[in-house]
Amino acid sequence: MANMLYQLCFGGVAVELDVFATVNGALDEGLNGKVVVVTDVLRATTTITVALTSGCLEVIPVLTPEEAIEMRERLGNGEHLLLGGERGALKIPGFHLGNSPLEYTPEVVEGKRLIMTTTNGTRAIRRAAAGKLVLLGALVNAPAVAAAAAKAEADVSFLCAGTKDRFSLEDFLTAGALVEEMLKQHDYTLRDGARAALEVYRAYRSDILGAFRSSYHGQQLIELGLEEDLDYCAQLGTLDIVPVYAGGLIKKLV
Ligand code: MLT
Repeated sequence: MANMLYQLCFGGVAVELDVFATVNGALDEGLNGKVVVVTDVLRATTTITVALTSGCLEVIPVLTPEEAIEMRERLGNGEHLLLGGERGALKIPGFHLGNSPLEYTPEVVEGKRLIMTTTNGTRAIRRAAAGKLVLLGALVNAPAVAAAAAKAEADVSFLCAGTKDRFSLEDFLTAGALVEEMLKQHDYTLRDGARAALEVYRAYRSDILGAFRSSYHGQQLIELGLEEDLDYCAQLGTLDIVPVYAGGLIKKLV
């Protein structure tokens, strides 16, 4: 653990990176007014990144299937508004799409708006709303998200969605990958959460897919026949879209 104090100052104040491993573990003071990067690599933040890459215009994250259906009725613009998400990792009855990144192709989502609810991911996104800039990070877009977060020249908190308020290896490891990518931009002061996530990422970086496969949620997805999603989500830096959440909507950062 040599050389663990990375320092960057803006206006004489050291800029810090921190990682919150669960939604309930995140402190208001760690989110309010910070750059917040939400991570739910298996699979919500990966899937939303893919949806926007495929030409989806915007994603509206909501907490429950009932809220999603009500919102669709309220917005009522027919075939241009899709419902997506999961419960128990499976498509919700009556919804157009589940939560697999492989479903969100241009043929399906281009020019459409999407209302989305997932067990942990959309909840984490909503929790992050107090951030001054809220980005969605996954492995597929980690270099692009890190570059965007670094540009903000402010403290960055990584908020892991976790699994029903429990620690998730895959989200923590992904937060570590994002910290690693940020350290390519500048030196930063790392709070202990960021140091730990970085060490976990470095321990697994040569076999990220193996780490995903061995994780609790990874095992659940494999049991449901969703193994290909793990292969997709374990890719590093294949997409350069950065989703940003503001005013209740997720769009591409421009
Ligand atoms: C979630 O939000 O809990 C996840 O994205 C679950 C999933 O893999 O679908």
